[in-house]
Amino acid sequence: MTDAAKKLFIKTYGCQMNVYDSERMAEAMGAKGYVTTEVLEEADMVLLNTCHIREKASEKLYSDLGRLKPLKQARPDLKVGVAGCVAQAEGAEILKRMPLVDLVVGPQAYHRLPEMAEAKGQVVDTDFPPEDKFEHLPARKAYRGPTAFLTVQEGCDKFCAFCVVPYTRGAEVSRPADRLLREARDLVERGVREITLLGQNVNAYHGAGEGGDWGLGRLVRELAAIDGLDRIRYTTSHPNDMADDLIAAHAEVPELMPYLHLPVQSGSDRILKAMNRKHTAEQYLRLVERIRAARPDILLTSDFIVGFPGETDRDFQDTMDLVRAVGYGAAFSFKYSARPGTPAAEKTPVAAEVADARLQALQALILDQQRAAQAAMVGREVQVLYEKAGRKPGQMVGKSDHLMAVHVEDPAGKVGDLVRVRVSASAPNSLAAERISA
Ligand code: 5AD
Ligand code: SF4
Repeated sequence: MTDAAKKLFIKTYGCQMNVYDSERMAEAMGAKGYVTTEVLEEADMVLLNTCHIREKASEKLYSDLGRLKPLKQARPDLKVGVAGCVAQAEGAEILKRMPLVDLVVGPQAYHRLPEMAEAKGQVVDTDFPPEDKFEHLPARKAYRGPTAFLTVQEGCDKFCAFCVVPYTRGAEVSRPADRLLREARDLVERGVREITLLGQNVNAYHGAGEGGDWGLGRLVRELAAIDGLDRIRYTTSHPNDMADDLIAAHAEVPELMPYLHLPVQSGSDRILKAMNRKHTAEQYLRLVERIRAARPDILLTSDFIVGFPGETDRDFQDTMDLVRAVGYGAAFSFKYSARPGTPAAEKTPVAAEVADARLQALQALILDQQRAAQAAMVGREVQVLYEKAGRKPGQMVGKSDHLMAVHVEDPAGKVGDLVRVRVSASAPNSLAAERISA
């Protein structure tokens, strides 16, 4: 039967979808008697849950595998697994390049991980199986903590010219609404007070529900009715899928937090077109106005790519102008990285020095905006959900409604408390606050 002593070490690269997938893989292995460990050296199984979105992200896998070699040589019975999008994209190639790897499991097949872990010899499963993997994963009984992710949708049909996701995660699929409500209730019973709905294209959600297809707005409203679920977030959204009903939910559903990650990638119409984003900068700005009309205090964040093939200085200035026009709370910006198999990979890249300089300029502007957004919170009363104890004794750490990290002096505070605090100081990545409610 099960071996209670076995330990699983998981390293997660890349996006929040992967964080969720790692949690579910840990739960699936938990049903086989594995417990997770933070100590690599004591692991019986090491699982690297990989990201393929930029070249640097997949290179990390190979350098980490290289570093595992001595451990595997010392303990040949150590299982080494590669999961996630590099597993999907490179499959059996990984085994050839890195013979120490025992198993390669794609993001659609990880419910098969427990049986793969018991197999002798090297195994690969990167199929897109017809069955619903979520149905084969254990119920979320092992889950602990006040916040949780919930995948509602996977895959993407948008085919942005730079992106591997439509190839590695496949076509858009939404999970049925009743299963999501059930999973959410399960989580709330376990003490979860905040759920972040996940999907590569989360606002394209169109799951089967009572009375027909539900959009994300409807799903949010039904989730908000669950007693004990205090906060709802969702990520990542595409501008073209911000339906009226979802925007209205930001005005009408108090549990829906005033925070939205809405990647635009570029502020230049020419580049947006070459990226196949299917909207203009002006349309994005108008959308932002409508969202802010519904929820004036909403904090917006975005992703940007600089140095996309053909990007001129003028195009880049359009991006800087768009950032100034929107005013973000934070944003990720990346240098374009050619991904094999994507349409943009065929085109001539922008010189590396030019792309580097643009990235620096954009990141400096975004950091200014982030500092300003954080500083604007000083003196304000905000609500914080405690996620863990702070480093200093008597301190708790949690997130505000706007997803800012907040450190609170609160010796009586407990993980899972949702409290009101007054912000006393700000730094670019965190706030300090005093508790004001009992
Ligand atoms: N090069 C650079 N950045 C990329 N992203 C996606 N693909 C690439 C690529 N080829 C960025 C986009 C996306 C985020 C998750 O990663 O900004 O929104
Ligand atoms: Fe990639 Fe574009 Fe789909 Fe986002 S919307 S996952 S960037 S193809």
